[in-house]
Amino acid sequence: MKSLKSINKWKISKFLKNDNFSFERDYILKFVSSSLLLNAYKTVSGWKNYKSTPLLSLSKLEKDLKLNNIFYKDESKRFHLKSFKALGGAYAVEKISKGKKNITISSATAGNHGRSVAWGAKRLGLKCKIFVSQYVSNSRVHEIEKYGAEVTRVKGDYESSLNECIKLSKKNKWKIVQDVSTKKYKLVPLLTMAGYSIMIKEISKQTNQYITHIFLQAGVGGMAAGVVAGVAKYFKRIPKIIIVEPDRADCVLQSIKTRKLKKIKIKKESIMGGMSCNEMSYIPWQILRKASSCCVSVSDKNVAKTLAMLKDKKFSKKSIIGGECSTPGIISLIGVCNNSKARKIIDLNEKSNVLIIGCEGNADVKLYNQLLSKGRK
Ligand SMILES: Cc1ncc(COP(=O)(O)O)c(C=O)c1O
Repeated sequence: MKSLKSINKWKISKFLKNDNFSFERDYILKFVSSSLLLNAYKTVSGWKNYKSTPLLSLSKLEKDLKLNNIFYKDESKRFHLKSFKALGGAYAVEKISKGKKNITISSATAGNHGRSVAWGAKRLGLKCKIFVSQYVSNSRVHEIEKYGAEVTRVKGDYESSLNECIKLSKKNKWKIVQDVSTKKYKLVPLLTMAGYSIMIKEISKQTNQYITHIFLQAGVGGMAAGVVAGVAKYFKRIPKIIIVEPDRADCVLQSIKTRKLKKIKIKKESIMGGMSCNEMSYIPWQILRKASSCCVSVSDKNVAKTLAMLKDKKFSKKSIIGGECSTPGIISLIGVCNNSKARKIIDLNEKSNVLIIGCEGNADVKLYNQLLSKGRK
């Protein structure tokens, strides 16, 4: 097992300051309205077994990096679904079904979103059809099927599974619950984002320290934009928002750099599967193009090590189960701290209270165990 000293060589791949930055609460809340955010919290906090997920302290790491606090929001404990996605898809299912019982819900997914939708449908006694690409692991499919959904595997990538889902949903009048928005498809993704904002509502009650920096992982940007909306609504002071992506799938960084929604080519999939996305969702783009202070990308190199270090109490007093997508916030925080120029630009110092979103636990048990033993070598 590596000691904490080993992290002083960790690097970020890219760092981009957003020259277009301006965090305006009203602008953000024009997209995700205040009443929608309040409704999401009111609804979800009323569900059976609802509990705030723990806000942990990475006390060993904060000492090492000479920061005041590093908070870690542990979404592995979210409703037994082991990821923040439980807050979004399931809430959207409840809102769009409007109490009707004779409808069928459908969705295409890389894993966790589909699980949330399937669980949301089961809670309400609705039928559910989920579409996945050939790359989604059997263990993720099994987790979706556990909630009674019928899963169809589609040859090709995520886009192929989405096209098949749209085709069959139109034909059969199923209601699609997708977390990715386009110019023409906004309502459901907005609902999922409002669900994700609940993490910030909880944090606003879990600490009275002002958060100064939030490291936010992004795939299509839904989680990041939902959290930003939560910040606009619930935080008194605005922290710096740092978007984190795999360097093989840096569609947010490239869009902010070129100031337009940019579709990128993914040459090789990242091990952080949920974040391996080639194009941002439309509303998150509108929000993040202004609200993010900077973007960071990281390679897959330290994913397994970070996962093992979380589990083996190298960063905190408590053992933490964080899956592959929970690691890049920590990797990029360490990488930025090792890079004096970047550290200075985002002003990380001994007064900083950093928030990391531990967005998933061992949602894919097989992959988690493989990465854990690799990371311990
Ligand atoms: C499991 C998982 N999937 C997906 C994402 C990305 O979310 P989004 O596509 O909404 O940006 C994350 C976090 O970044 C995640 O942890």
